[in-house]
This record gives sequence, C-alpha cells and structure tokens, in this order.
Amino acid sequence: PLAPGDEVVGTDLEYGACEQTWEWLCAKRGARYIKAHVPLPVSSPDEVVAAIFAAVTPRTRAIFLSHVTSGMALRLPIEEVARRAREQGILSVVDGAHAVGQWPVDLDALGVDCYASNFHKWLCAPKGSGFLYAHRDQHAWLESPIVSWGWVDGNAHFRTDTPFVSRNQMQGTRDIAAFLSAPAAVRYLEERDWETVRERCHVLAVEARERVAALSGLPQVSPVESPEGYRWFRQMAIAPLPHGIDGAELKRRLYDQFRVEIPITGWTEKPFIRVSFQGYNTRDDLEALMAALEQVLPSMTPAT
Ligand SMILES: Cc1ncc(COP(=O)(O)O)c(C=O)c1O
Repeated sequence: PLAPGDEVVGTDLEYGACEQTWEWLCAKRGARYIKAHVPLPVSSPDEVVAAIFAAVTPRTRAIFLSHVTSGMALRLPIEEVARRAREQGILSVVDGAHAVGQWPVDLDALGVDCYASNFHKWLCAPKGSGFLYAHRDQHAWLESPIVSWGWVDGNAHFRTDTPFVSRNQMQGTRDIAAFLSAPAAVRYLEERDWETVRERCHVLAVEARERVAALSGLPQVSPVESPEGYRWFRQMAIAPLPHGIDGAELKRRLYDQFRVEIPITGWTEKPFIRVSFQGYNTRDDLEALMAALEQVLPSMTPAT
C-alpha cells in the first residue's frame, strides 16, 4: 500500500487511462506518480531499463510499465525491469493489454509481481474479458476495487484458501459471458497455428513501417530487432509521419476518402501512424493503406 511521500515510477510511453489511474491513486495516498523519460529512438533494451531506473529513488514503491506500449507500439524489457525491481524491494506492475495474444506471456518466467490484460485486442476474445495476475506473495494485501460477497473473511462466500481470488472473482451480479468465451478464443488460436499467423502479420508490419518511413524520409523509433536478438514489435508497429502534419485531418481524410481506419499517434509532438496486422488482414490491406498515404501525404506535408 502506498503511503504519503511514496513514489510510483511509470514510463512516458504509457496508456493515458492507466496513467490517470495512478495519478488518482497517488493523489489519494499523498504519493507521487513519476514518468521516466525513455529517449527515442531506442537501440537496446538496456537503454530502456536504464531510463526507468534513472527515475527510481529510495521512495519508489512500484514500477509500472507496459509489456507492449500503446501509442509507440514498443515491447518493453519487463523481465529485466522486474528482476532489478525485485532486487530493490520495488513492486513491478505490468500492463499487458497489447502483449497477450501477440507475445508469449509466461508469468513465472517474466518474474513480475502484478500483470493485467484484457483479452479483446490480440487474443480475439470478447470485450469485457481479461485477467489480473498477482504473485502469491502479494495476495494478502491486494484489495479489490469492488467490494462484494467474497470480500469479508468469515462470510460464507469468502474462500479462505485463496482470499485474492475470493475478493476479486465475485463482484456483484455480473455478465460473465465474455469470461466464459475466453477459452474458446485460446482454442481458436491454438487450432490455427497462430505462431505462423503472427509471423505472417509481423512481415507485413515490418514492410508497412519501412514503406511509410520511406515516404516521410524520417528515422524509425527502434530497429526491428536489436543485435542481442531483442524484438521490439510484432504485429503492431509505428512509422514516423512528416513533422507538423495535422494528424486529426490525416486520419479524417484516410477514412472519408479511402475508408482506411487507422490511429495517428504522437510522441513529444511528433506524429506517427500505427499499423496493426491481425490474422484477418492481408497484403491487400497494406497496399490499400500505402495507396491512400501516397495520395494524401504529399498535399498535407508542411513545407520546410
Ligand atoms: C496499453 C493499454 N493498456 C490498457 C488499455 C485499456 O484497455 P481496456 O480499455 O480494455 O481497459 C489499452 C487500450 O487501448 C492499452 O492500449
């Protein structure tokens, strides 16, 4: 639990809604949420680890980071962050929303204290499904934000064998249909050799970011893979757009004129386009995007 003066370190690549959750919690507890600046472009995972630990102080109680960041689509080295955090008695809390389904998530091997994810992005399960993992050592103090039948020790619904599950699993009368269908989603991927599908998608993502960068003439934010074999992205990638471009207008034109629905993201006021290839996408989708960008970008690129 956070106390006044405590600090939580996140990166400046995190999903806004999660940052707000930390801001909210820290404000309630008199703690501070600090955003570590991760300099881009990155060339090695060690740089990310160093940037995060540069923001750590003796008051740091938790480090929060995404397994795969939303806006910049980068896989972060959570194993190494979790390992160093544990050495220093700091809790590691990981947002896996874009990793589950794209990357293997072996929670024991990752060594994190807490990991949460939805299942509707890359696992192809319905919205509303997801999971919260907490290492057994953290079960005793973790509270559920919703108090229901399983919360109070001594209540007939309280499971003494696993208070953590007891507090979190039963949260009033909920629609559990999405949860019940998650195993079918996992089976669906297993039966279709999804590793091969992921790799096919990765090839398209690599090509998309190269072709967009060739149009804008700007450098990428990371290599595809670092020399030590660390891969920065898989099915989702970003590519730099010309500086000063009106991202909202580009997004609007891509949809209105070409029916291409795609996020335009940003980092330190620099615009990027984020491509995502899922099993249902084909090369035709990539070609449609490129044809649209080739038509639209030249007329929108500010003169330098
Ligand atoms: C990195 C990341 N974390 C968390 C979320 C939030 O997921 P949900 O809206 O399912 O709670 C998202 C959604 O886009 C995300 O990209």
